[in-house]
Amino acid sequence: MSVHTPEDVRKVTTHRLFEMKQRGEKISMITSYDYTMASIVDEAGVDVILVGDSASNVVAGNVTTLPITLDQMIFLGKSVVKAVKRALVVVDMPFGTYQVSETEAVSNAIKIMKITHADALKLEGGIEIIDAVRKILAAGIPIMGHLGLMPQSINKYGTYNVRAKEQDEAEKLIADAKALEEAGCFAIVLEKIPAALAQRVAQEVHIPIIGIGAGGDVDGQVLVLHDMLGMTKGFSPRFLRRYADLNTVINEAVSHYVEDVKSCDFPNKNEQY
Ligand code: KIV
Repeated sequence: MSVHTPEDVRKVTTHRLFEMKQRGEKISMITSYDYTMASIVDEAGVDVILVGDSASNVVAGNVTTLPITLDQMIFLGKSVVKAVKRALVVVDMPFGTYQVSETEAVSNAIKIMKITHADALKLEGGIEIIDAVRKILAAGIPIMGHLGLMPQSINKYGTYNVRAKEQDEAEKLIADAKALEEAGCFAIVLEKIPAALAQRVAQEVHIPIIGIGAGGDVDGQVLVLHDMLGMTKGFSPRFLRRYADLNTVINEAVSHYVEDVKSCDFPNKNEQY
């Protein structure tokens, strides 16, 4: 199996991501939610670790990302940051923590940064949240935008289908991406939109565009760790490539352990004091 070792072991910064876009080097990003997995992911050489609010689904077992709280995201973010030496760590601002007012948004953003020591935050939305984005950026906190399918708005859409297939929505998305760039965001995630539209956005803005279900003509890719490791079952969107079948590996290991305990094979004489 080939192993990718990053040549540059320095801590990844927002500026280095920008340089990667300029020289055409793709950016790898993946989610993590705990210390142990984050240390493995970081050592494997990923450029950006996202403490995603997808933790609401894969860690907390909720149907949507809406229920996860600020304090829960802070707990996860703090655990991940402790493990990471090289990757840039981005924490998702959860639903309801940046939409009420700019003052509340910046105060929640500062709370996340102060307690977790993360490098940056991610917020879903474009022009409708631009005042909150500006205020957080003015506090010196780097922001990654998130457009296209925005899971925090699932109740508005009613479906997780591909977004921005129609011209109106595509044009709004391009305007949103430009507004986020102009405000000073350092990168934007584009989720589940047509590849041609994502390519256009990546060409028309200067900041890195990281895609998930947005095709290959963008500046980088992000996947949810539990999905790409094959831990989650019954979630098979077209864009998801599974790099392992950990569901089976874990199931077999745990079944084997159960058998060994039941049959008194474990522990043996060498496994006791
Ligand atoms: O929360 C998350 O995992 C995300 C990714 C899907 C980009 O926002």
